[in-house]
Amino acid sequence: MQAKGVLWCVFANFIVATVAEKRANCTRKDTKLFCEKNIPIDDFPSITWLNVTQVDWETLDFNVVHQKFPNLRLLSVVGTNLTKVHKITLPDTPLDLRIIHLSSLQITNFPDNFTSHFPFLDTLNISGNFLGEFPKFSFAGLGSVYLSANQWNCSNSLEWALKVNRQVFKDLEQLRCFKMPHNNKPVLAIAQFRKITRDSCTPNCSCHLIKCITDMETGVLEPIIEVNCSFRGFVELPSKFPPKTKILHLEGNFIKDLDALRTNPIYRDVLDIYLDNNIVTSINNLEGSYWLTHLRVFSLRNNEITEIPAYAIDNALEHNTNMPNAVRLFLGGNPWRCDCLFAPRFKEMLQKYAPQIIDLRDIRCAKDSDNSLIPVIDLSRTAVCHSPSEYTIQEALDLLNGVLASLIIFVLGKLAYDYYHYKKTGRLPWIVTKLP
Ligand SMILES: *[C@@H]1O[C@H](CO)[C@@H](O)[C@H](O)[C@H]1NC(C)=O
Ligand SMILES: *[C@@H]1O[C@H](CO)[C@@H](O)[C@H](O)[C@H]1NC(C)=O
Ligand SMILES: *[C@@H]1O[C@H](CO)[C@@H](O)[C@H](O)[C@H]1NC(C)=O
Ligand SMILES: *[C@@H]1O[C@H](CO)[C@@H](O)[C@H](O)[C@H]1NC(C)=O
Ligand SMILES: *[C@@H]1O[C@H](CO)[C@@H](O)[C@H](O)[C@H]1NC(C)=O
Ligand SMILES: *[C@@H]1O[C@H](CO)[C@@H](O)[C@H](O)[C@H]1NC(C)=O
Ligand SMILES: *[C@@H]1O[C@H](CO)[C@@H](O)[C@H](O)[C@H]1NC(C)=O
Ligand SMILES: *[C@@H]1O[C@H](CO)[C@@H](O)[C@H](O)[C@H]1NC(C)=O
Repeated sequence: MQAKGVLWCVFANFIVATVAEKRANCTRKDTKLFCEKNIPIDDFPSITWLNVTQVDWETLDFNVVHQKFPNLRLLSVVGTNLTKVHKITLPDTPLDLRIIHLSSLQITNFPDNFTSHFPFLDTLNISGNFLGEFPKFSFAGLGSVYLSANQWNCSNSLEWALKVNRQVFKDLEQLRCFKMPHNNKPVLAIAQFRKITRDSCTPNCSCHLIKCITDMETGVLEPIIEVNCSFRGFVELPSKFPPKTKILHLEGNFIKDLDALRTNPIYRDVLDIYLDNNIVTSINNLEGSYWLTHLRVFSLRNNEITEIPAYAIDNALEHNTNMPNAVRLFLGGNPWRCDCLFAPRFKEMLQKYAPQIIDLRDIRCAKDSDNSLIPVIDLSRTAVCHSPSEYTIQEALDLLNGVLASLIIFVLGKLAYDYYHYKKTGRLPWIVTKLP
């Protein structure tokens, strides 16, 4: 090490410090001093650069630093994972430090006017601490700032991440949220999603970034946005909301027509729609729509729906990409039609999708009908198909099916017989001989 003539000065073994202090183990190189565990008790007017590692301080006192190292330009203090600095004592007079590096010290916050005590400061590295909120002190005049590996609390406003100069805040993209919400997600991305969510929110509604998930396939961070337009007097489905909205609350409005779910492509990304307590009368026009085969939650409680295209819904659910575990339907509190034509098919559908239909027993016949308020799932066929005219339609269809089936069997049987007969006797069936 001394080969190049560099003056290495290992301080007389370990400088025995006061009782309260750990021994410092320092190495000097020109005007640089590298210490472990502590700073030495002597004063070093010529030192301009001081690195201290593995400190176990509870107080970081800039007055002590200044007294021992009056010409210091660089101060680097790095703790261990157990170091906990509770207090930072600012210098009584401004110091000429150009670089300050304070890491692994579990610092939770800095004095509000921290930087104003270092008027020539250029580089501030306070990464690897326990900062939860953006520091209140000024970053004006600094050339480089490092803030990553702290404990950014993302339930606070993250507006600052969008405002700071990214030329100065070098590791802005590495900052991550600590714990919920958005545990371990990039602070900058969350701030951006929040801004988009706010800026593109439906007028009169509230929009909220619930969480972000990393797409398994693409690795891209996807926002999950919830829009709440409940009880806002809407008479139709909103035509504008943040892109990537997944959850839409529209309870307690005056919406009647759901055609936009089929026609407006903005609804393609929406997974959950809550339309309880509106005046929806029909969802027939959703038949064959993209949305029906991609929905996750469709809540239509307490509307004015009398019947739904049971076969179309059945078909859509069979092809639904979220089946079976994520799909949830709510259909209770509607005046369901309980006649022979609709109820049996409807009941069949309800039975088939009972795991997905959450409020199964609230799906009841219309109040003023024969089976008033009986759960559709409890209806017996005879209870709804009692009048002869209703009965015969279904029965006639069944009968017709039976007749057609018998005819098919007869024709096949005759064909087999004729073939066998021809093979045996060589005679063609009578009908063939009569054909021209
Ligand atoms: C003092 O520091 C030197 C260089 O970092 C190291 O080799 C030595 O083991 C240290 N001594 C003690 C007692 O920590
Ligand atoms: C001393 O601290 C500075 C600033 O953090 C750093 O760049 C440098 O690598 C450190 N030197 C040593 C030997 O740890
Ligand atoms: C501190 O670091 C050491 C070694 O790096 C590790 O064994 C220990 O578990 C860590 N302690 C805590 C509290 O993280
Ligand atoms: C800032 O401090 C962290 C933690 O000690 C360190 O890993 C990083 O290299 C430092 N960055 C710069 C540019 O010195
Ligand atoms: C920093 O703030 C403290 C109290 O908050 C105040 O006493 C002190 O004068 C301030 N120092 C500077 C340099 O602004
Ligand atoms: C984040 O801040 C909120 C208040 O703004 C507080 O209630 C919550 O405990 C903090 N979370 C963490 C992990 O510190
Ligand atoms: C928002 O609500 C107010 C009052 O409820 C209403 O006058 C206004 O037209 C609504 N704006 C939109 C865009 O719906
Ligand atoms: C939506 O907003 C309404 C009215 O402001 C509120 O009562 C309701 O709890 C909100 N719903 C959700 C899911 O946040």
